[in-house]
Amino acid sequence: MQWRRRHCCAHTAKLLYLLSLLGLLVFLVNQVWLPRLTGLPWWRGHPVVYGGGLHTTKAKWNTSSHHTTWRLVIVPQATLKADANASSHEKEGVISPQGEPGLDNTLTANTSQTDEVTLSGEITQGPFPFIINEQDKCVEGKPAPFLVLLIATEARQVEARNAIRQTWGNESVAPHPGFIRLFLLGKTEGELGILQQRMLEAESRRHHDIIQQDFLDTYKNLTVKTLMGMNWVAMHCPQASYVMKTDSDMFVNTEYLIQKLLRPELKPKKNYFTGNNMRGFAPNRNKNSKWYMSPELYPGDKYPTFCSGTGYVFSGDLAGKIYRASLSIRFLHLEDVFVGICLAKLRIEPTPPPNEFLFNHWRVSYSSCKYSHLITSHGFHPNELLKYWHHLQTNKHNACINSNKERAGRPHSNRMHVEKPP
Ligand SMILES: *[C@@H]1O[C@H](CO)[C@@H](O)[C@H](O)[C@H]1NC(C)=O
Ligand SMILES: *[C@@H]1O[C@H](CO)[C@@H](O)[C@H](O)[C@H]1NC(C)=O
Ligand SMILES: *[C@@H]1O[C@H](CO)[C@@H](O)[C@H](O)[C@H]1NC(C)=O
Ligand SMILES: *[C@@H]1O[C@H](CO)[C@@H](O)[C@H](O)[C@H]1NC(C)=O
Ligand SMILES: *[C@@H]1O[C@H](CO)[C@@H](O)[C@H](O)[C@H]1NC(C)=O
Repeated sequence: MQWRRRHCCAHTAKLLYLLSLLGLLVFLVNQVWLPRLTGLPWWRGHPVVYGGGLHTTKAKWNTSSHHTTWRLVIVPQATLKADANASSHEKEGVISPQGEPGLDNTLTANTSQTDEVTLSGEITQGPFPFIINEQDKCVEGKPAPFLVLLIATEARQVEARNAIRQTWGNESVAPHPGFIRLFLLGKTEGELGILQQRMLEAESRRHHDIIQQDFLDTYKNLTVKTLMGMNWVAMHCPQASYVMKTDSDMFVNTEYLIQKLLRPELKPKKNYFTGNNMRGFAPNRNKNSKWYMSPELYPGDKYPTFCSGTGYVFSGDLAGKIYRASLSIRFLHLEDVFVGICLAKLRIEPTPPPNEFLFNHWRVSYSSCKYSHLITSHGFHPNELLKYWHHLQTNKHNACINSNKERAGRPHSNRMHVEKPP
């Protein structure tokens, strides 16, 4: 009896222990998004922080439904010049969506940029003159480029630009349906600015892949920078099939993007926009938060679906449409949110990518297998870019061989050899 009771108690204790482990596990699973956020270099200061309900796919602008536990979303705003004069752009055929409370106000916001759009709806140059332009970049190669890469960068990031030129931005990655690469820049002030400008102009003469306008190159002017790119495509390369906007600290698998996602053999899509879809995100209303968004600037309690600014792809026709729509929308410094609002105004819903592993706005741990099947990964130092790119190129044709072996239960395969770059 004695023995039996003790034995039984030991069982109960074991059971309780297991139950508590299970409880912990359930808790951790529910927090699974946390490490991605906190454990990652968020140095670019991307404005979006995940909230609960990230996976909600319900009516996006239905403000009457679920006020769940939305967390912070937004970085302090900057009212640019673009508010002031009242003038409706409805005559240009831009429809204002109805039945989307909150958006209405933002979409009908006053602007003063009427003069940029001629009555025929033709796009002219934006409010800031070009300092460096590449007007003929697109017409040089006889057939229109299949893809235009617009890469936001700053003057000082020379190393990053050079790494991109040698890796995913190298035109020889996909020579057949050709692509072109453009770095987007504003200007830097002061002594340093003058020096940087001279170097930038030399760089531009050498590579002919820089466009620059006369606006201050700050984080809060990122929207201006993106619109410069859209405007450039609309004016100088409207026949491009697709456009991608990305950043200079990104890894972009251009080959996979072109061959597997966009597929040159198909007829180019229209009104197509895709990337890392941010669905149902809410502006932050906590005045003490650095992500505060005032209800005056954005009255709605949810943003329309937008795609992370770390990398989104759209059909060439949208460059002009988004640019034109932007002129009648109140300026928001968060370029990805702003572009999302332009799309909402155009009544275009971003297409979810074929799988959720393609566009990553965090850093995916490297393996040749994973990287040969994704499009973006965020947070790369130029040296890392060169290292991983080289490794991926040399292992391209057997990128997943070792992972398959492992799955088939051959633990002795030399994992280090394939999984880690040299
Ligand atoms: C908004 O949500 C409410 C409640 O969830 C629902 O009754 C209503 O039909 C929805 N409206 C739209 C436009 O989806
Ligand atoms: C808007 O601009 C027009 C001409 O540019 C001017 O006459 C008018 O007073 C302005 N309206 C406001 C509200 O600033
Ligand atoms: C536009 O501005 C005018 C005056 O500047 C104001 O009366 C009007 O309500 C504004 N319209 C919107 C939609 O904010
Ligand atoms: C682009 O790739 C080609 C072929 O691999 C190479 O010859 C060329 O030097 C590369 N360009 C740059 C800027 O690295
Ligand atoms: C954006 O650029 C304009 C033009 O150079 C400048 O006046 C403005 O201060 C900049 N805005 C921010 C928030 O840096």
